[in-house]
Amino acid sequence: MVDKTRIKNQLLSMGVDQLMSETPTDRVAQKTEEPKPETPQPKQTISRPAVAAKGVSTQIQETEALAASAQTLDDLKRAIQNYEGLAVKKTALNMVFCDGNSKAKIMLVGEAPGAEEDKQGKPFVGQSGQMLRKIFKFAGFDLDNIYISNVLNWRPPGNRTPTPQEIAIARPFIQRHIELVNPDMVIMVGGTSCKALINAKDGITKLRGNWYDLDFLKEGSTVKATAIYHPAYLMRSPSRKKDVWQDVLKIKNYVGS
Ligand code: URA
Repeated sequence: MVDKTRIKNQLLSMGVDQLMSETPTDRVAQKTEEPKPETPQPKQTISRPAVAAKGVSTQIQETEALAASAQTLDDLKRAIQNYEGLAVKKTALNMVFCDGNSKAKIMLVGEAPGAEEDKQGKPFVGQSGQMLRKIFKFAGFDLDNIYISNVLNWRPPGNRTPTPQEIAIARPFIQRHIELVNPDMVIMVGGTSCKALINAKDGITKLRGNWYDLDFLKEGSTVKATAIYHPAYLMRSPSRKKDVWQDVLKIKNYVGS
């Protein structure tokens, strides 16, 4: 007896999140069983699946509506927790919504949880996250006055980079998240965060260290933002640490205490 749930879970853990069919098809058996038509067969009509896959634009409309209706951070957390349109939810252990002080003036926005974040349900607690926290601490920031979240609230299987579709679907959530926290400064940690928040087409090397105005807030107000290298990149390229150090000191100088 085929254990469909077990096979499905195995596939999901390997990052296969789009199944063509609920039931596996034995193509070998099919080949031998299928009789060769001797007479012309009537034309077959190919029916659509009972539930057609939703288009990304429909999903974006859904997340926009959910995000807009969230009046508090708790509302938003609940809306994200209940949203079934992102397949990464199915493979993650925990949702990673935030860490830190929601009244903070500084908000860091990373890419997506990694393995340790997935386990603990908190952003930037793994090896690279701890390094990022240390850099901010040594630059004189009070970590209790920083708020942290990510573009995606679920760990992508195998820590893969979020797809453009996932970023587009999750964007209304992180935009509303920033709006509800209402910080003075957003620090985009890595290229994915820049793609989500400023629609960046350039790479992080070009984007880092510059100032931006996030203009997606209601009533036309804006929030200052800047970008830094992602700490996972620093682990692979330690020579770039001096750039992050320079960028973080510049931010410290800008925001003061
Ligand atoms: N990388 C991120 O971008 N965010 C985390 O929370 C952890 C690793």
